[in-house]
Amino acid sequence: MKILVLTSGGDAPGMNMVIGSLYKKLKGKLYGCRSGFKGLINNDIVSIKEYKPLLYIKEAGSVIKCSRCDAFKEEENIKKAVENCSRFDWVVVIGGNGSLKGAKALSNAGVKTIFIPATIDNDIEGSDYSIGFLTAVRAGIETFNNIMPSFDAHERVAVFEVMGRNSDKIAKGVSAICQPNYLITTNEIDYNRIIKTLVYNKENGNASSIIIKENIIDLKEFVDNLSKRCNIEVRGIKVGYVQRGHKPIYRELYIAKEFAKKAFKSIKGDFSVKLMSQNGEINAIKL
Ligand code: F6P
Repeated sequence: MKILVLTSGGDAPGMNMVIGSLYKKLKGKLYGCRSGFKGLINNDIVSIKEYKPLLYIKEAGSVIKCSRCDAFKEEENIKKAVENCSRFDWVVVIGGNGSLKGAKALSNAGVKTIFIPATIDNDIEGSDYSIGFLTAVRAGIETFNNIMPSFDAHERVAVFEVMGRNSDKIAKGVSAICQPNYLITTNEIDYNRIIKTLVYNKENGNASSIIIKENIIDLKEFVDNLSKRCNIEVRGIKVGYVQRGHKPIYRELYIAKEFAKKAFKSIKGDFSVKLMSQNGEINAIKL
């Protein structure tokens, strides 16, 4: 039996644990496709051993690299990819929504495929969890906690922009713990209310904090808007890639390992599946 694994889209902390755990079970039967679907189109495939997966099992990123691959939407490229899959019994696709579409395309073309949700955005329909989310929230919390004492010393306003694409889950997760003065997740921004709070805090010798989900308003524009309306120093902090590059927390590693175990079990099945976390269990649902 020969299994191929690829990671696609944005990387997510915990991907390496899935790859390493699969390698522990499959050893020489496991192959890695470099840079997601791009590598599948170009047949850029080697034995996973070459990537030394066990050295990086607890690290963020992906030893087999990730990429966003628009070319995989073209019929001709899907055909090439499917041809390159023909020497494998199963293909394991680890990634987010774009990767799920790619996994479906492979499966529709007759490739036995297993999809594992891994995106910090935690926005895969049908799955309560996707690998990387908890670590991304942790990274946001740490950034907030490490920055606020300095802002407090200067009575400044900190605006933290967190990742999440169209999902507000990271912003809400960080806010639940950090309790900023404002959490902004939609483009209805009540500047008057916010300014009142900022001024009140400043007058009482305190800093202020705002957490804003990305893709609502340009961070610089938002910071400039606030600065113009009140005479307080406002600074923007993009938490951004710190969330993707953060070392996976232990719970993440555990969850990633559970997904890998379920993938290994699914290899014994007959049809393509997507692994979905539902009510505390990982279910293999027909793709
Ligand atoms: O989908 C994961 C994610 O990190 C989003 O939160 C973010 O909007 C996007 O990827 C950034 O992607 P890129 O690394 O391609 O800029």
